[in-house]
Amino acid sequence: MENILVTGGCGFIGTNFIRYLLLDSDFTGRIINLDSLTYAGNAENFADLATSKSDRYIFIQADICDAKAVERAFETYGIDAVCHFAAESHVDRSIVAPGAFIQSNINGTFNLLEIARRHADRLVLFHHVSTDEVYGSLGPEGLFTEQSPYRPNSPYAASKAASDHLVRAYGKTYGLPVTISNCSNNYGPYQFPEKLIPLMILNALDGKPLPVYGDGGNVRDWLFVTDHCRAVWEIMKRGTRGWMYNISGRCEMTNLDTVKMICDLLDEMVPGSDANSRRDLIAFVRDRPGHDLRYAIDCSKLENELGWTPRESFETGLKKTIQWYLDHPQWVRSVETGEYRKWIERHYKE
Ligand code: NAD
Ligand code: DAU
Repeated sequence: MENILVTGGCGFIGTNFIRYLLLDSDFTGRIINLDSLTYAGNAENFADLATSKSDRYIFIQADICDAKAVERAFETYGIDAVCHFAAESHVDRSIVAPGAFIQSNINGTFNLLEIARRHADRLVLFHHVSTDEVYGSLGPEGLFTEQSPYRPNSPYAASKAASDHLVRAYGKTYGLPVTISNCSNNYGPYQFPEKLIPLMILNALDGKPLPVYGDGGNVRDWLFVTDHCRAVWEIMKRGTRGWMYNISGRCEMTNLDTVKMICDLLDEMVPGSDANSRRDLIAFVRDRPGHDLRYAIDCSKLENELGWTPRESFETGLKKTIQWYLDHPQWVRSVETGEYRKWIERHYKE
């Protein structure tokens, strides 16, 4: 893999993945980051690499649904592998406005696959990044495995399930070399503060209410984002083509316990001016419609086959995440004010 097309590389996981590949992994080739810069994409995340690694990092602002732009990227840069992150990713937004999820997640993936198929002579891999949400919801017992049936419950999950099926079908029907990974909830640096963990960190620091849906008893299986990035890279290098791999941190937490842990860590790391704990800010609010009760993933296939294990515990990962948000007030300000959307224009004008 010399010229990897990363889609959605300006989002949370894509940013961490590209930074990992260029700064911390054994990858020696070039990254072509194709991202349309929706509200969730921040090109400024690469302000440093755009100069220091300009021979190995190329950015294209384009939509994965734009066949001409994607085709041009394949031709111009001799793409020989794809790592496909681009998607609308937030469940709550998919409940309010599902259209964009159908367009980017399903039609966008279809468009990419069609172009990849036309370049099959050179393509060694099409890796598709997906989610555990395709499996639906668990009761109090059991784990999702790669054999679990697909039972998506939200428009987001359904759109990701559809895209998984397309990728699998292109592998079977056209012999495209594909792999799929289905991952549990990620957290870490650069996550847009609409998702539970960064939202709670920033609200708690500002003394704002911490909105917990329902009774806070829903369970998520948390994975530090760098552990996810290492897993994706291992699958890309050594994973069996045509297979899917589950990825998780084996770290089940109720949402309420997660929020309490964030409050306690913040009280320790940034003591407030009064004796009150930030736990006092917790506010139970109306539940998400169709809210999946519990996700828990069996990732033993990935562990046994490729020798991957998560390195971060929830406590060490959360401390690093909190520290990152404390150390990057300018990033937070820029995201909160919308200023980050202007960086790309400034950068290319200068
Ligand atoms: P994100 O919302 O932070 O970033 C998505 C990126 O994709 C943004 O940069 C956005 O601009 C870009 N994008 C969206 N639509 C596009 C389009 N039509 N054309 C080009 N670019 C487009 O998402 P994330 O949390 O980084 O998730 C990345 C991938 O990982 C998604 O496919 C998501 O389904 C999957 N995933 C996420 C998690 C998680 O916990 N965040 C867990 C499992 C799987
Ligand atoms: O499981 C993987 C999925 O994890 C990914 O595929 C999605 O892209 C990603 O967004 C995430 O989905 P969730 O819906 O689980 O993540 P979110 O951060 O939105 O919510 C986590 C849990 O916290 C969920 O049970 C809903 C709850 N929640 C969320 C928010 C934003 C709250 O209680 N309050 C909130 O304000």
